[in-house]
This record gives sequence, structure tokens and C-alpha cells, in this order.
Amino acid sequence: MNRTKIYGHRGAKGRYPENTLLSFQQAILQGVDGIELDVHMTKDGEIVVIHDEFLNRTTDGTGFVRSYTLEEIKGLSAGSKFSSLPDYEESWVLEKVPTLKEVLQLLAPYPIELNIELKTYTFEYEGIEEKTLALVNEYGNGRKVVYSSFHLPTLLRIKAIDPSAPIAWLLNQVISNPLDYIKSLELEALHLHKDMVIDHLNDWKELKNLVRVWTVNQREEMVQLIDAKVEAIITDYPEMAIAIRQERAV
Ligand code: G3P
Ligand code: MG
Repeated sequence: MNRTKIYGHRGAKGRYPENTLLSFQQAILQGVDGIELDVHMTKDGEIVVIHDEFLNRTTDGTGFVRSYTLEEIKGLSAGSKFSSLPDYEESWVLEKVPTLKEVLQLLAPYPIELNIELKTYTFEYEGIEEKTLALVNEYGNGRKVVYSSFHLPTLLRIKAIDPSAPIAWLLNQVISNPLDYIKSLELEALHLHKDMVIDHLNDWKELKNLVRVWTVNQREEMVQLIDAKVEAIITDYPEMAIAIRQERAV
């Protein structure tokens, strides 16, 4: 059956502190087909799971991720900034910025896909591609891992290291000849901003299996994309998307 996969964006970001083990665990409990997460590199070369290149928004630290060692970053809370979420609990203050290795270990028992977004458009983090691939090789448990980035050189480096690695280019603006890009860059998929797809569903009909769409949080958007059978939607609210997919299948 060819149904749209539901990926949890930074775990289940709509209800839990993004990119934390708690958020990933909850997304798994909600029944996702895949998880999306973002990676940066610390001063001492560790791959950590955090969205921004700076610590200020999602932790109680300040400054750039790359200015601190893993040990220093592990001293921060990745949950305390999320007290405005409706289900906030005091215990969330104990959530830390996870390493990619820790997330891979958490996912190990579950047969779900993983989308690792390499956040390399501000800082290129020399060696991040090799390290990310090596971690997946060691701890990925054979799962499907898709590597995405807005920064094309990162994806080409991944492909050069491992020609079998699925790479997906993240785009938030329209390109007129997507299939040419897919073929010539050997992309596994395009990861497209929702407005590029929802407003142009007919244009993407032929390519629907090659398209994952982000960040899809409104019910009507989910309905349209699930009915159009795009490969996957990436959402902050995977529970809602899974329920809608169930309704549409009946
Ligand atoms: O990978 C899809 C989406 O996560 C890209 O944007 O800023 O949420 O990482 P962002
Ligand atoms: Mg992302």
C-alpha cells in the first residue's frame, strides 16, 4: 500500500521540547513512520541534535554550539525553555541536548526511518558528513536514513563518501525543473516547503513519490497532501496526521 508516511518534525515538536530524547520517544509512541532531526557539531567535534547554530532559543545557554565542548553543552537544559507548551512538566528541565549517537541508540528497537538534516548553511563544520555517516553506520541498526540539507555541497560530500546514501535537497523556493535536479544530482527526494506543494499539487503529481513536505501542521494541509499521496509529510503534530491518514483511508 502506497500511503503517505508521517515524520515527526524534531520529534513531536508541537507538544514536547524539540530535538530532545523525550520528543523523539513521544513521536515513536504516537506511531510515526519516521523522525526528522537537525545536527550541528561541537567545539570538540561531537555531532549534537539541535536546530539552531546558537544555544539561546532552545537551551539555557548562550552562544554558538561550535564554541562549546560536548561536556559543556551537556550541562545545559534543553527543556526549560518550553514552559509555554500546554503539557509542560517540571521534569522537562532535565532534558539535555542529545548526541546523534544517543538518538540512534534510542531508535534502535523501532523499525522507523530517520531524516538527519545537516545544518551546514552558516558554518560548514569540517568533517560533519564523515562523522554523521560513521555514526549511522555503527548505530543505525540498518534503518533507512535520509540525509537532507539546504546546503547542496554537504549532500554532494555525503554522496562522495557513500554513493548509496539517500540524499534529499531541502528547498523553500520553487524550482522549475525538479526532475532534472533529481536526476543530475542523484537525489533520493526533494524536501519541499509546504507552500511549494500545496499551491501546485498538479505540478507534483508525477513526482509525488520523490517529495517529502514540511512543515505541515494544519488539518486541511494534511488532508490535501495525504490524499495526494506524497511520499511523506513532516509535522510537529504527528498524532494528528496519523489520525487524519486513518480517516482518509476508510
Ligand atoms: O527538514 C524539514 C525542516 O525541518 C526544515 O526546516 O528549519 O525546521 O529545520 P527547519
Ligand atoms: Mg529540520
